[in-house]
Amino acid sequence: MPAPRTAEIFLDPHFTTGEVDPLLFGSFVEHLGRCVYTGLFEPGHPAADAAGLRTDVLALIRELGVTMVRYPGGNFVSAYRWEDGVGPADLRPRRLDPAWRTIETNRFGLGEFTAFTRAAGLEPMMAVNLGTRGITEAGDLLEYCNHPSGTTLSDLRGAHGAPEPYGIRLWCLGNEMDGPWQVGHKTADEYGRLAAETARLMRMVDPSVRLIACGSSGSGMPTFGDWESTVLSHAYDQVDYLSLHAYYDPDATDQGSYLASAQDMERFITDVIALCDAARARHRSTKRLSLAFDEWNIWYMSRQRPGQGEWPRAPRLLEDVYTVADAVVLGSLLITLLRHCDRVTAACLAQLVNVIAPIMTEPGGPAWRQTTFHPFAQAARYARGQVLRLHITSPTYETPKYGDVPLLHATAVHGEDGVLTVFAVNRDPAASLPLTVHLGGFRTAGPVSHSVLADADPTAVNTMAEPDRVTPRDEPAPAVEKGRLTLALPPLSWNVIRLPLTAAH
Ligand code: AHR
Repeated sequence: MPAPRTAEIFLDPHFTTGEVDPLLFGSFVEHLGRCVYTGLFEPGHPAADAAGLRTDVLALIRELGVTMVRYPGGNFVSAYRWEDGVGPADLRPRRLDPAWRTIETNRFGLGEFTAFTRAAGLEPMMAVNLGTRGITEAGDLLEYCNHPSGTTLSDLRGAHGAPEPYGIRLWCLGNEMDGPWQVGHKTADEYGRLAAETARLMRMVDPSVRLIACGSSGSGMPTFGDWESTVLSHAYDQVDYLSLHAYYDPDATDQGSYLASAQDMERFITDVIALCDAARARHRSTKRLSLAFDEWNIWYMSRQRPGQGEWPRAPRLLEDVYTVADAVVLGSLLITLLRHCDRVTAACLAQLVNVIAPIMTEPGGPAWRQTTFHPFAQAARYARGQVLRLHITSPTYETPKYGDVPLLHATAVHGEDGVLTVFAVNRDPAASLPLTVHLGGFRTAGPVSHSVLADADPTAVNTMAEPDRVTPRDEPAPAVEKGRLTLALPPLSWNVIRLPLTAAH
């Protein structure tokens, strides 16, 4: 008998996974290519404010709904001297950035970054250099940022125009230290010890900090698993989060597997939870570590060209242009993060502007939204509240990488605003997917809405010439009858279905 073509979702208000942490909608600004220079910072641009920040980009960042931003790297941080980026701008040194083979002018540094986070309403997540540097410099940076006054470093911040402490709460202990490409790459034992001792000093300087240890820079790393166990054997008691990084390259696999990339993210998260909880048992600890998925995205990595031996300033690097299919996959990755909101409590879409980013700019010209902007913005806006544990049945398709994969990928959030939002992806590029949502104890109190991101051409993109070629569109409102919602998800689509609920919920 052929499998039924209809997918079903069964909801129950009592079955919840947990509350979404707003930090799940973080992003990432690295000194890389044009993310900073001519991205968010371009003195002299017609839309720049007095600080050189592009107000057109700030408006798009607010619309995107980003809550937090990681800085200044990335690979960049592992050879960075934070002192280069403070004090009078015209006295700052120009340096080689070995990570991306560019010249760093240091025109943008800590003070400018803080001005940016305040203008954009973002919580900063700062990374310290544990590649070429160590415990002392991390402590110094924290003292400069967070100590009120009365020491050389805190008073220096005052002399640089910031008498009030920056109060930075979130700190990454290095970046991707498991990666052989990383400046100052370390073994798990070397890094675990350094992370633990850096964390101990940082907590002495400011006990309010939340610390993130580097996990693996991908689930495919040969050291994955051993890295986590060894690092946590040294640092479990000292840190609050373990990081995960994942990028999905559309060119590196067949289409069916690419559309199912969330299968890899799902497995990665559950494996890292298991590794953290095994370390917890070994430490006889009552503390449960959170996961910080502090770099994730789609990245056409195989199209990247190696540096040509030059040292340019703010070159066009990693400026991927995202398709409709990429936006659908990105939506599916967001669904995965939400489904694990009880353990993944911080995440950063890497990156924010120009570099594998949802926002693009032209120097001296406009800023626009990539296709991937839209699912992120909708999730950041509507996925606030309790994530529900769903029971899903779905037809499947066969993939070379992940075997049988459901065509439907979905989650639902019972919002603080009294609205239930279902986020759903149809992975089928060829056909609509009929969907029935069984509302369980939920009662709707108003018209249901259905927003869709899809296109007859799944390779369609947004460009400077045609910035709104791809945007979400509203479908006719689906009907609710006898506690069931029935609708069809268009081929290869990201769907946001909103159901206002009666006050009883
Ligand atoms: O986001 C681009 C790069 O990807 C980051 O610098 C690095 O941490 C990762 O490998």
